[in-house]
Order: sequence, then C-alpha cells, then structure tokens
Amino acid sequence: MKIFIDSADVDEIQQAYKWGVIDGVTTNPSLIKKAVDRRVGDGKKLDMKGYVAQILEMSKGNPVSLEVTERSAEGMIAQGKKLFEMFNPIAQNVNIKIPVNPALADDEASHFDGIKAIRSLAEDNIPVNCTLVFTPEQALLAAKAGAAFVSPFAGRVDDLLRKNAGMSFEKSDYYPAEGHDTEGGLLHDDGVLSGIDLVRQCVDILDYYGFETEVLAASLRNPRQVREAALVGADIATLPFTVIQGMLKHVKTFEGMNSFMNDIVPEYAEL
Ligand code: E4P
Repeated sequence: MKIFIDSADVDEIQQAYKWGVIDGVTTNPSLIKKAVDRRVGDGKKLDMKGYVAQILEMSKGNPVSLEVTERSAEGMIAQGKKLFEMFNPIAQNVNIKIPVNPALADDEASHFDGIKAIRSLAEDNIPVNCTLVFTPEQALLAAKAGAAFVSPFAGRVDDLLRKNAGMSFEKSDYYPAEGHDTEGGLLHDDGVLSGIDLVRQCVDILDYYGFETEVLAASLRNPRQVREAALVGADIATLPFTVIQGMLKHVKTFEGMNSFMNDIVPEYAEL
C-alpha cells in the first residue's frame, strides 16, 4: 500500500520524505488554510504560487492532489485545467481533486457536476482524485467517469455513525472496522458499517470489475485504521503527519529498547 501525507505544510511534507515513507501528498482547502494561517502573521500575504511549487518540487516523482474550489461543472473544469497548466510543468506530478457531488443540499440541481468534471478532465488526460466519497456507488460512478483515484472518507463515516447514535467521541478515537453492535443491532449508514467497511466495499467493487482507478483511503485518524485500510486492500492511504508518527510507537518497543541499552557490555559496544 502506498502512503501519502495528508498535509499542505511544507515542513511536515519534507520531514516525511526524509523518513522515506511517503509516496505522495493530498491537500484540500482546509489543509491549505491551516498551513497559510501557520505562516502568515501581522497581515503578511503568502506567495501561494511559490508555496505550492515548493510542495510539488519536493514531491518530484510522486503525485500531489490540488483541490478545486469551484462548484459548477464548467467552473471545476476551467479551474482544474488552470491549476494543472500552471503547476504540472513544475514536476509533472499534479492531480486535480474534484468532489464526487458538489451540491450543498439535496434540492440543488448540480449533483452530477462532479462526475461531468471528472469525465472532462480525464478526457484531457488530467488525472483526477475524486474526493468526498461516502458510498461505494459514488466510487463506482467516479471510476466510470475516469477518476485516477477515489477517496472514501473513512473517519468521517465513523463520525457520522457515532453522532447519529449519540455517542461522545474524539475524532482520533478508534471505531471498529466490523461495526459497532448496539441493542438495536449494528450501526450502519445505508449498509456501510464503518469507514473501513466503506473502503473495503469500494476496493471490492473496483477490483471485481477491473477498474484501473485506485482506492485512496482518506480521513484516517489513527494507526489501527491504517492497518485495517491495508488489510482490506486499499491502494493508498493518505495520513496526517501525526498518524504517520504514531505508527511506530509501542510500549513494548520502548521497553525492549531500554533493556537492550541497559544490557550493552563495553566489549560488544567496542566491536
Ligand atoms: C484527504 O484527501 C481528505 O481531504 C482528508 O483525509 C480529510 O480528513 P479529515 O476527515 O480528517 O478532515
């Protein structure tokens, strides 16, 4: 499984590349805002073009997702093309993130604008990462439209299930992949038992029909979810910096290191 970093922070991205554990980057408007807020003080403006170029250069050979902010099909296509033309020449590694459905509410008429934009950009050989996927059928339509990646949002499914059930939780809390059993039966969102179950269903459908589209497990909030995304066959997991850091930690590893360090005899250390 490939690992991407889910961050727009150049320091985090650079560190993760130095560790040698990442294969790409995903950004979104919220992550860009976080990175900008961290850097901009006293009303200073960030050179956004130069900042994005830095991320692309340090990612040479690895894909970087840049998300559109428009919502109409025409707007997303025009903005997607513009972003691609502006940034792809830097390191040939840009893909454009398009929401599977940009409608803000059920009564809007634009439910298929994301799919139309994916189709159009894919026809122009612009790789698309289809984002905000919450059902396997959304993933199927995005794959049919030609998305290079589909991003099921695992953690946000778990948030929804817990919220609907009135459970209190922290975003980083583990939620069982096999679902949470209650007296009323397993919690589910229209047959999806957990965020990892959503990833599994997307993987199963796209594999079954031989799509080239890769399943990019997103919104992962803890190391156990990363393991479970790998176990269900996600092609990629995109992870916040803190989750990558957490993947190496175990109390028995620390304990073992302490005892090995205490047992070093000078004769061995001098070899
Ligand atoms: C990545 O592409 C997504 O935007 C991201 O993983 C969302 O994560 P969150 O649900 O923790 O905000």
